[in-house]
Amino acid sequence: MKTIVVANWKMNPPTFREARKLFEATKKTAEKCPKISLIIAPPAIYLHALASNYRGKKISFATQNAHAEANGAFTGETSIAQARDVGAEYVLVGHSERRAMGETNEATGKKVSAVLAQKMTPILCVGETKRESSGEYLDIVGEQLRTALADVAPAKISKVIIAYEPVWAIGGETTMSPRDMHSMAIFIRKTIVGIYGDIGHSVKILYGASVGEKNVLEMLREGNVRGFIVGHVSTDPERFATLLKVIQNET
Ligand code: PGA
Repeated sequence: MKTIVVANWKMNPPTFREARKLFEATKKTAEKCPKISLIIAPPAIYLHALASNYRGKKISFATQNAHAEANGAFTGETSIAQARDVGAEYVLVGHSERRAMGETNEATGKKVSAVLAQKMTPILCVGETKRESSGEYLDIVGEQLRTALADVAPAKISKVIIAYEPVWAIGGETTMSPRDMHSMAIFIRKTIVGIYGDIGHSVKILYGASVGEKNVLEMLREGNVRGFIVGHVSTDPERFATLLKVIQNET
């Protein structure tokens, strides 16, 4: 089974020239990592040029966000079909940085359904902003899952990828402990199986937040996940190459 790695470039790099350089470096590394399925999520404005010039099969593309409506008066937005038309196969839905800008659970639900309707794969991001000992975070993540998946038919659920990203751990150098991720993966799995039954076991769960070359191995071994979303490390070609090699050698 291949390990999934999503490179979330966020709003980086600052020029297309640099984006192309980063892409070329990443491509070289990816070619040496047959055990990894690599998905690059560049800024939407770079997506078309990167995807249309790429002739290989090793890398797939995601858009970091898309609008649930098919078209219309939504200044500044990109539709899911537009993203697909220029080469995206995946759509990140409900990333915490989008939620911080006002995206609600209901909005993520509409997007998940719209992505599936376009025969693309939603990568639904869930995660609490802070962790309290009362265990409230489980209610938050449970609610994020239930609302986002409310309109997903059982026949489609295995097409959804869930990315758990504890917001309090994003952007640093320390991940959540793999043990805690292991429990969270069980909770997510239980929630989905609770709604859908056995087919819920086929849903892939990823971890994201401060994944780097130093901490990825233990998360891979003990975190109970099928892969990762990598933010800042994915825009540093050397660090990202090291990270991918660590995964490649372990799997
Ligand atoms: P990070 O970002 O790897 O920089 O923590 C992950 C994400 O936000 O997807």
